[in-house]
Amino acid sequence: MGELSQARARAAELRLEIARHNRLYHEQARPEISDSEFDALMAELVSLEAEWPELKEPESPTEKVGGAPSRAFQPHRHMAPMLSLENAFGAEELAAWDERIRRGLDHEGPIEYIVELKFDGLSLSLTYENGELTTAATRGDGEEGEDITANVRTMPSVPGQLGSKWLERVEVRGEALMSKQVFAELNEARLARGEQVFANPRNAAAGGLRQIDPALAAERRLSFFPYGFGGGAPELAAQNGVLSWLEEAGFSPRTDARICLGVEAVQVRLNEILADRPHLPFGIDGAVIKVNSTAFQARMGSTSRGPRWAIAYKFPSEEAFTRLNGVLWQVGRTGVVTPVADLEPVYVGGVTVSRATLHNLDELARKDVRPGDTVIVRRAGDVIPEVVGPVLEKRPEGLEPVIPPEVCPACQTPLAQLGGYVALRCPNRRECPDQVLTQLAHFVGRSALDIEGLGAKRLEQLLEAGLISDQASIFRLAERREELLGLDKMGELSAQNLLDSIEAARTPPLPRLLFGLGIRFVGERTADDIAQKFRTLEAFREAGREDVLGVPEIGPRIADEVEQWLQDPESQALLDRLIEAGVSPQEAEERPEAEGFGGKTFVFTGKLEAFAREEAEAAVKRLGGKASGSVSRRTDYLVAGPGAGSKLAKAEELGVAVLTEEEFLALLPGGAL
Ligand code: IVH
Repeated sequence: MGELSQARARAAELRLEIARHNRLYHEQARPEISDSEFDALMAELVSLEAEWPELKEPESPTEKVGGAPSRAFQPHRHMAPMLSLENAFGAEELAAWDERIRRGLDHEGPIEYIVELKFDGLSLSLTYENGELTTAATRGDGEEGEDITANVRTMPSVPGQLGSKWLERVEVRGEALMSKQVFAELNEARLARGEQVFANPRNAAAGGLRQIDPALAAERRLSFFPYGFGGGAPELAAQNGVLSWLEEAGFSPRTDARICLGVEAVQVRLNEILADRPHLPFGIDGAVIKVNSTAFQARMGSTSRGPRWAIAYKFPSEEAFTRLNGVLWQVGRTGVVTPVADLEPVYVGGVTVSRATLHNLDELARKDVRPGDTVIVRRAGDVIPEVVGPVLEKRPEGLEPVIPPEVCPACQTPLAQLGGYVALRCPNRRECPDQVLTQLAHFVGRSALDIEGLGAKRLEQLLEAGLISDQASIFRLAERREELLGLDKMGELSAQNLLDSIEAARTPPLPRLLFGLGIRFVGERTADDIAQKFRTLEAFREAGREDVLGVPEIGPRIADEVEQWLQDPESQALLDRLIEAGVSPQEAEERPEAEGFGGKTFVFTGKLEAFAREEAEAAVKRLGGKASGSVSRRTDYLVAGPGAGSKLAKAEELGVAVLTEEEFLALLPGGAL
């Protein structure tokens, strides 16, 4: 039996059991099991349903408790209620709030705010008595949450004991969340075991906190970031002092909370956070702006919903729901046919998305999204949008799974499924119109011949009009000027500009031409390496497998592909046509030797400010040197940043050459990393 059917069977069993015990308890007043045994049954069902959302059903006892804490965990009444925050979307709403604060405080100048990250997790309230953690509870309805202490005790960032002795009862408030890395690792492991993956870190964290077995909660490796107090708060002058107090007590508050004087400074900080967002180790859904002074906070007070002295500035959500209208099949440059979701347009991650990649057949099968499904779409930062998966609870009856095509959608050639690869491929490399178009787009693209004014639309138009057919024919366009001028949206000026940029591309640097040819596995770096070795197109054309293997950094896999390409008469014919059309690549220049690196050992120490240590070490290795972690007689150079200590002393003692970061950079070819 598969995991899902096992889970389904267990869930059904649990529901029957729970219903029976409910009747015994409520209707017949003769319970057969203790409250805690009942709670354990309920907790198991809750965690099963959290793990397998498709098992949820409206009739489940887990749905019936209607917001009140379920019997799975003991209820816990908060000392001070857990309120929520008012939201601001955009600069205007933020400015209006600042205005209200200044009026409320009758304050002339700019207000001192503190800007914190708004963690996208679950709020927790931790009760410490005489410095010891006694209870950890969820928010619940704000007045009463659930006691999940056993699970929270497994979180390394929640101290069991406060470092600074606190003799009374205090509630520490903060957010529990799962880092992006842990999320990715857990999902990878689940995928390998054929289990359903978590939809997002927040769900995975929520499920973790509600595990009945703390060992399972521990496996979720959740983090906790504190941001304030509930009841029993110590008297402190400002929110930044609150964060310091929490740090001294043994928590790890984020150190990127910033004090900003006035709303304009807040806005600047918000932009920084937004730019940083994709690089943060965990998800945030905005920033929280707080009046820093606790005296001012007290004067502003709270409503029943939340404090007036803080506001949540929401960033555009990185995830949204929308309808999957269908699945399109896109043919790429190398013939790989990729499934692409055709979506009902939806605003996500700050842009409107109507297409999103489904990556490949395996991913499509794993996600099993079906036309008509409501799907989760994700776009984080500038990353291309992707479909996370279907919302199974919203799936209408009778939706059919997507069937991969058997023939190429562009040229109707039967598709091949590549052995060992999860890709479908159209083998009609030379004539498939979609492949020809994307190959040409690659050839004229920014990293290859960089011909301005030749976007995909224009190329398509030229192909359709029969004005071009391959890479070489682009260089013969000048001979067909009249026909060119007859094209839609092609005036005298744009035609001349286009012909000028084509002319300028006639003598490309050899590596760019090699890259533009689109040989499999030959990216920009490899094209560069090949050009270094052969110098001229003529020499490259003559190369055999052994010659190609002689290129540093090229292994058998790439050499095979390059050889195959060179052996293909059609490739050689294309090169002939290019040369005939007047394309004449520049001979590759010798790369400047990085003097002083070959075989030399470098050690980096101190607080490096001009570059990251890993980057510098990688550069040293690339140039033939070695990077080491400790200074010895064998060390050739110590690169010392500010604050260098014992390693610097040792280098000086041994007479090892010491370089500043700038001196190190100056040694590199081009003077930079
Ligand atoms: S202060 C009265 N600071 O956002 C609540 N909350 O929308 C004061 N949150 O339930 C909360 N990061 O779970 C505060 N740096 C932060 C936060 C934060 C996330 C959550 C919190 C709260 C929700 C309010």
